[in-house]
Amino acid sequence: MMENSVMMRDPRKSNYYYEESIKTLRTNIQFSSKQVKTILLTSCYPNEGKSDVAFSLAMEMGKLGQKVLLIDADIRKSTFINKYRVNEAVNGLSQYLSGQVELQDIIYHTNFQNMDMIFAGPTAPNPSELLGDADFTELLRQKRDDYAYIFIDTPPAASLIDATVVAKNCDAGILVIESEAISYKAAQKVKTQIERSGCHLIGAVLNKVDMKKGRYYNSYKGYYKK
Ligand SMILES: Nc1ncnc2c1ncn2[C@@H]1O[C@H](COP(=O)(O)OP(=O)(O)OP(=O)(O)O)[C@@H](O)[C@H]1O
Ligand SMILES: [Mg+2]
Repeated sequence: MMENSVMMRDPRKSNYYYEESIKTLRTNIQFSSKQVKTILLTSCYPNEGKSDVAFSLAMEMGKLGQKVLLIDADIRKSTFINKYRVNEAVNGLSQYLSGQVELQDIIYHTNFQNMDMIFAGPTAPNPSELLGDADFTELLRQKRDDYAYIFIDTPPAASLIDATVVAKNCDAGILVIESEAISYKAAQKVKTQIERSGCHLIGAVLNKVDMKKGRYYNSYKGYYKK
């Protein structure tokens, strides 16, 4: 079988606190139950930093020798391609879910240790419908045994249904919350929405904390387990 591979660049500026926080999150995930394999990442609103957290987490997990798959399920706007400066033409999730290509055509080995990637693919007119397709469930079912963890990056959950649709197929969820930007009520609402899909939230990441304010030692807080 032909295997695809792709070259990605890490776009993040190095930040000690950020990296340490991601490592803490990684450790907490490793100590969650064995059944936690497919992990959704979302937030209430755009731009809170979920794609960065998803990528960082996948990368750090891979470094530990755990095989990971990162899925960009934001098929409304496929940022990974530009952000990670992928030069090759790649097939993505939207093409697989609409029956244009096979599952093996969308999985790419990356230049990051133990990390495979599924890109979003071209923007589709009906993203939530595609994500709700049985083929998405099938993808996760088939790939489950090949990876230690599958991280799924989604669009913001407060105004779009996509993350909630994806949540139906996930074992666990992590809610990224931009510091001082999100009300308790909004976060609570999205939490309930995700949990109603049968995906339990194993953690929340308080992101973009202003370290100069010195109120938090760490930008990662409030991880909780059921
Ligand atoms: N901890 C952080 N501190 C400062 N800036 C950050 C942090 N995390 C992410 N950013 C910046 O915020 C922007 C949004 O990040 P990212 O794309 O990860 O968010 P997102 O929640 O996935 O957005 P979208 O809803 O559009 O998918 C980027 O410019 C990123 O560099
Ligand atoms: Mg994103």
